[in-house]
Amino acid sequence: MSGSADRILISSEQIQKRVREMAAQIEQDYPEGPIYIVSILKGAFIFVADLVRELKRPSVRIEFMAISSYGNQKTSSGQVKVTRDLDVNIEGQQVLIVEDIIDSGVTLSYLKRLLEQRHPKSLAIATLLDKPERRLAPVDVKYIGFQIPDEFVVGYGLDYAEDYRNLGDIRVLTP
Ligand code: IMP
Ligand code: MG
Repeated sequence: MSGSADRILISSEQIQKRVREMAAQIEQDYPEGPIYIVSILKGAFIFVADLVRELKRPSVRIEFMAISSYGNQKTSSGQVKVTRDLDVNIEGQQVLIVEDIIDSGVTLSYLKRLLEQRHPKSLAIATLLDKPERRLAPVDVKYIGFQIPDEFVVGYGLDYAEDYRNLGDIRVLTP
């Protein structure tokens, strides 16, 4: 299946505006100290790059983790695997996990449990997109960019079988 992605769901202008609002909220909620941004590869790479540039303090630490749960499928395999772990110690730190989209919630609930075991001072989640209808595993998400319907979306970092990540807006993939 290749499909097409002609229908824009969220334009790049809407995304940029919302990213600025989210960053302002984060600034307010973390008045001091470094923030450890844990970006989940690959999907969150564009979102995190835009988000951190809206944070005005110097002490924004940018760390990466990679997780696989999908393979080339459109739905989660339900099995989460850390394919690249953090290379810093987050104990006692303010940690913000940044994800592209939360769908079943399986990935983030697993990740949250994993990072909690490392005793950060605080641990919260920011996601650009949320598909609440599909939730299987409950997750407490502090910052949500947009809630979207149950459709498969691509662009702005999100892929289908590694294609479409480079699009500037978020589009619906139709078979
Ligand atoms: P979850 O574990 O089901 O919440 O899946 C989260 C991950 O699934 C995200 O990080 C994405 O990589 C992927 N995903 C879920 N829905 C979509 C979508 O509509 N487009 C692209 N990737 C998606
Ligand atoms: Mg992802």
